[in-house]
Amino acid sequence: MTETNRPMTVPRFMASKGKRKLSMLTAYDFTFASIFDAAGVDSLLVGDSMGMVIQGHDTTLPVTMDQMIYHSRLVSRAAKRALVIADMPFMSYQVSPQQAVENAGRLIKEASVAAVKLEGGENQARTIRALAEADIPVMAHVGMKPQSVRKLGGHGKVQRDFDRLRADALAAQEAGAFGLLLELIPSADAEKLTAELQIPTIGIGAGPHCDGQVLVSYDMLGLTSHDFTPKFLKRFVDIRTATESAARAFAEEVQSGSFPDAAHSH
Ligand code: KIV
Repeated sequence: MTETNRPMTVPRFMASKGKRKLSMLTAYDFTFASIFDAAGVDSLLVGDSMGMVIQGHDTTLPVTMDQMIYHSRLVSRAAKRALVIADMPFMSYQVSPQQAVENAGRLIKEASVAAVKLEGGENQARTIRALAEADIPVMAHVGMKPQSVRKLGGHGKVQRDFDRLRADALAAQEAGAFGLLLELIPSADAEKLTAELQIPTIGIGAGPHCDGQVLVSYDMLGLTSHDFTPKFLKRFVDIRTATESAARAFAEEVQSGSFPDAAHSH
């Protein structure tokens, strides 16, 4: 078995640091998760970005535990090799470490995920430690934290203080996080953190020096609105335009009576 078709586990994910770059995409359903898994993507994140790209909300805040469990089940069912990580939705861990362990435990037991992710560093250190002590692998998420949108007054707003970021990163590692997601921070800061930390860093809008990269799949596939144009986003394909043309052609052919033709009728 080559390194790319061996099932990805948390220890293998951690051991990749400094050896090979890690790829991660968000996934929310069986079909896309199967495609990403077969393509060799290392990790599938059942992101709470589902609140925006699947549910059409303006923020990730409305996502519930039951919804996260439902979507995580669909993704876990598809993953033969990739490491499935589920986001802890807003207010599923902020109340107390006990609440976090109970909810993360549900994601492991009811949705078969390998690990969970939560937003925070030093402020969530007690919770990260409680999860690690319960043998629940946890990734921390620092930099731009979408669940803090109300406090920060908008998306894309991020604390740009490197010392704060470093303290959060080190606190998360010290508390037992197995990885760290860095969102929307300068490349130079991500490079310094990646060099200092022993755990892998996964970047989104954090430059090329991280140990791995994640993108929201619906964005990189060109499915979501093309009005969303952050500098870090590369659209690898334009499924939105192709889907719209296909749907238009279908509607026109139904209208004109040219579909179904003899070749598509029994
Ligand atoms: O929910 C999500 O999609 C995320 C992104 C930063 C990858 O956490």
